[in-house]
Amino acid sequence: MTDLSSFINALPKAELHLHLEGSLEPEMMMDLAKRNDIDLPYKNVEEIRQAYAFTNLQDFLDIYYKGMSVLQTEEDFYDLTLAYLEKVSREGVVHAEVFYDPQGHTGRGIPFSVVTNGILRALDDGRENYGVSSELIMSFLRHLSEEEAFATLREAEPWFDGRIIGVGLDSSELGHPPSKFQRVFAAAREMDLLLVAHAGEEGPSAYVREAVELLKIDRLDHGNRTLEDIELTETLARSGITFTVCPLSNLKLCGVPDMKEHPLRRMMDAGLKVTVNSDDPAYFGGYMTANFLSVAQALDLSKQDIAQLCRNSIVGSFLTEGEKAVHIATIDQVLLQPWDC
Ligand code: HPA
Ligand code: ZN
Repeated sequence: MTDLSSFINALPKAELHLHLEGSLEPEMMMDLAKRNDIDLPYKNVEEIRQAYAFTNLQDFLDIYYKGMSVLQTEEDFYDLTLAYLEKVSREGVVHAEVFYDPQGHTGRGIPFSVVTNGILRALDDGRENYGVSSELIMSFLRHLSEEEAFATLREAEPWFDGRIIGVGLDSSELGHPPSKFQRVFAAAREMDLLLVAHAGEEGPSAYVREAVELLKIDRLDHGNRTLEDIELTETLARSGITFTVCPLSNLKLCGVPDMKEHPLRRMMDAGLKVTVNSDDPAYFGGYMTANFLSVAQALDLSKQDIAQLCRNSIVGSFLTEGEKAVHIATIDQVLLQPWDC
């Protein structure tokens, strides 16, 4: 472990952009396929890893939806979620606000309650066993219809008593602008849910504008292409909205040709409140520390920059002000220690 990774691990941070289904490691995929008697198009974990050569978001999504077919029982969702929390607890993640795709499961006959209760039980045990606090956000698949999103919103209502705190929007971005879900997000807002959405990952900055202005989101997922619109960039810098950027994801899905060309530094310099996250770590080659390391080395980020990204993640989370203050104070303490990096 390099000194830089020790420094990164020592900083308390929140993960704000993580798809639980994207934390399904090849080993667990094989184990669950066996446990549930599911036929996979791969013979072993090496073949699975070889299949992870993506040229764009859709390439990845096609494999991601196939991979999740091994998740069948409440226990499977529990095991998946707890394995993620155990891993990131060793990387300084003190809080995680995680996404899941209920429609990716209900659409193949797994009841909403089986998926959701398995995840929630693991979030409770992860808090207890590993000290990672967490919240659950349900994402709508944007390639599906508005009507299907509304049906999912209705089905989830019993969990809106504090167990599912918000809704998000993910899957194939191009051709599925945020405006398609304006009425769904308005309904969710009426239900006092928090709102996030993927925009500007592959889609244009106009999608970011729609997500902010039409969906009235509380936080933006990705948002890399915001920089193409100077006026929008200035507005979002002033508003202080948090961006959940995912460096290794952007590299693996060819959003950037090389990490040295990642826009994270330019986003920070433009005054945007940027955070670092892992998106689908089992598919993109690393969890939080790997994402921080990769982007810090490529863009020559200072310790102050890295600490600021961690502060942003705490500030941009849905923790209470009191909880945020505790973690921010720890970040300041860590920075005071003598680091050899
Ligand atoms: N982008 C859009 N949808 C997704 C992603 C992503 O990176 N991961 C899982 N669903
Ligand atoms: Zn994502």
